Amino acid sequence: MQDTLIAYFSKSGRTRKIAEQIANEINAPLHEILTEKTYPRTYFMTILESRREFKRNEKPKLASPKIEELDSFRRIILGFPIWFWTCPMAVVSWLEEYDFTGKEIYPFCTSGSSSCDKATAKIRELCPGSTVHDGIKANTIDGARIREWLK
Ligand SMILES: Cc1cc2nc3c(=O)[nH]c(=O)nc-3n(C[C@H](O)[C@H](O)[C@H](O)COP(=O)(O)O)c2cc1C
Repeated sequence: MQDTLIAYFSKSGRTRKIAEQIANEINAPLHEILTEKTYPRTYFMTILESRREFKRNEKPKLASPKIEELDSFRRIILGFPIWFWTCPMAVVSWLEEYDFTGKEIYPFCTSGSSSCDKATAKIRELCPGSTVHDGIKANTIDGARIREWLK
């Protein structure tokens, strides 16, 4: 799908795997949301770091290359792990970096158990000019579900 970009943040690789699967299925480019800082290696230390970010509303600086051709994408598929029931602050940094007015955003998350609902509400708040579809939890996904989701 030439009009679709898949952007994702992934700390430990699970969301990346799903993003790659979607990219293969619909033949769309991938953009990894990277931060200047490196999150701690361990789960426990990442919990502490991310809790601190949420408490201070601290948006990490991005290290991913700027997307110059954003205008050419009508649909953005946005993947991330759930952190503290919502999207990581890196995703907030990324959403604030661009103007998504007029675009359609399709969020998906991976998580231990939480749904994508709170993150979807947050994305709607951050992108008032775009259509944000209900986010899906996609710890696993297959071609049929991808096609049904995006149709
Ligand atoms: C800082 C942090 C906070 C998390 N908070 C939640 C949560 O609130 N609910 C949940 O179900 N899983 C939570 N998880 C688990 C991740 O959402 C889950 O392991 C995810 O699939 C990891 O994706 P990744 O490999 O792409 O980073 C958390 C993980 C981390 C590191």
